[in-house]
Amino acid sequence: MRIGVLTGGGDCPGLNAVIRAAVRKGTQVHGHSFVGFRDGWKGPLEGITMPLDVGTTRGILPRGGTILGSSRTNPLKVDGGIDAIRATLAKESVDALIAIGGEDTLGVATALAAEGVTVVGVPKTIDNDLGATDYTFGFDTAVQIAVDAIDRLHTTAESHHRVLIVEVMGRHAGWIALHSGLAGGANVILIPERPFDIEQVCNYIEHRFASHYAPIVVVAEGAVPAVGTMSLQDQGVDAFGHVRLGGIGAVLEQEISARTGKEARATVLGHVQRGGTPTAYDRVLATRFGLHAIDAVHDGESGVMVALRGTDIVRVPLAEATRELKTVSLERYAEVEVFFG
Ligand code: F6P
Repeated sequence: MRIGVLTGGGDCPGLNAVIRAAVRKGTQVHGHSFVGFRDGWKGPLEGITMPLDVGTTRGILPRGGTILGSSRTNPLKVDGGIDAIRATLAKESVDALIAIGGEDTLGVATALAAEGVTVVGVPKTIDNDLGATDYTFGFDTAVQIAVDAIDRLHTTAESHHRVLIVEVMGRHAGWIALHSGLAGGANVILIPERPFDIEQVCNYIEHRFASHYAPIVVVAEGAVPAVGTMSLQDQGVDAFGHVRLGGIGAVLEQEISARTGKEARATVLGHVQRGGTPTAYDRVLATRFGLHAIDAVHDGESGVMVALRGTDIVRVPLAEATRELKTVSLERYAEVEVFFG
């Protein structure tokens, strides 16, 4: 078989480990050949390819990003997009696709599978918000990066008796904020699933100063104040219609300073959380996903995604992966509230 591989959506540490594992096992064990499609769905849409074999994937295991490039191109929004993809697959003699991505990329994969294209999905997102899998690779790395930052911010916050606010990624799900805030000893953690009360946040902050510690506020970029309490800015939408967030840290900086009289400063971690080398956990998970994805293709599967359930990698329908976002439950949030203030 000849298999096309693409990586779509926001990049994430571990993508290269998936590619390497699928190519290595596909070539050496199953005897298949590969072609890389560049920049997500743009590659098959516009016929942009690169060679993919054991040689071109050597040495990429610890490397962040993706050697294939990525984009948020949505072929379902392009006139004749699916036909253009079919034409590219025919021209390249591709029998099956491995699509590595989050809800958007896998949503396109689901639509293509329904149209008869052979496609197997691999879940990816630093946000860890895909419903069908217990964890996605990239999340552990993002959390570790955020915790390293929080550890550093603690010492400078203490020196200057400041409130330091750390804005982390997570537009609909607060997993990065929850885990990094818990591991980093945050004074309060704000997540999209639980609109916050600014009065309560300021009470926590004042209590922390009263105990002679400087507070660290960890806030997910998609966190929102309770209705009618504060206004927020947004900055347009991407090709999948997602609002580009960013700004809640700066808003909190102003609001907390004004309400408590303490100096507050915000640090936005942004794309730092998506860059650099994956942790060992993410390398292992990504490698296992790659190995199981190529096995699924070899077995003639289509319309499925590999997923982590407990410690096992299983195959689930692609549609299941995109059906429901996995958000932080109020019970999980309640667990960490004992550390607030
Ligand atoms: O989905 C991954 C993610 O990193 C989100 O956490 C974040 O909101 C978004 O991508 C940012 O996307 P972009 O890099 O396209 O601005």
